[in-house]
Amino acid sequence: MDVFESNLEICALRLRDHPNIAYQLCNGFDFQPQPDASVTAIFCYDAIVHFSRDLVASYLKDARRVLKPGGMALLHHSNYFWPDTTVHYGHNPRGRNHMTQALFNEYVADAGLEVVEQILMDWELPSLDCLSLSSASRLDPFWLIGSHPKWTKGSRFGSSEHREATKPRALSPNVF
Ligand SMILES: C[S@@+](CC[C@H](N)C(=O)[O-])C[C@H]1O[C@@H](n2cnc3c(N)ncnc32)[C@H](O)[C@@H]1O
Repeated sequence: MDVFESNLEICALRLRDHPNIAYQLCNGFDFQPQPDASVTAIFCYDAIVHFSRDLVASYLKDARRVLKPGGMALLHHSNYFWPDTTVHYGHNPRGRNHMTQALFNEYVADAGLEVVEQILMDWELPSLDCLSLSSASRLDPFWLIGSHPKWTKGSRFGSSEHREATKPRALSPNVF
């Protein structure tokens, strides 16, 4: 997934000998149009490090939606403390946006996921980045209720409320 079609085209060209890969343009703030509970793993490296806080929170929240119960997300994110929003993140070391391990953990918890393992990584500076493995609980009431026949019809997914909550909207600029 990528928010720029041209970057997907570069990947498709580079990986043309692997017909089992699918390329999906995304809206830049969540995993739509990926269906609910459809993937066992999400991997993202060297992209979220540049994302603003609201984008990180938005992707984590949607990770809970797309992950199957027990699924895992391995995400490489910033651990660079620089909450000054008047300075463009492009001026920070290696273009890292403001994020800390602790703040990321709060967003993981807010999304209803659990941190399984984390390592801080040196990247030009000591502990500039963090690699976090988070999981979706196998007993997530979100899905237990959503998949119960009694609730399926009135499920929040596909409802006008859900469509409204997930439709593209302006978030902080994240210009590359
Ligand atoms: C530094 S590149 C790294 C690409 C790839 N992970 C790699 O290691 O080669 C960051 C990628 O994130 C994409 N990107 C930027 N903002 C995004 C967003 N909000 N949602 C999804 N992808 C985004 C960019 O288009 C770019 O392809």
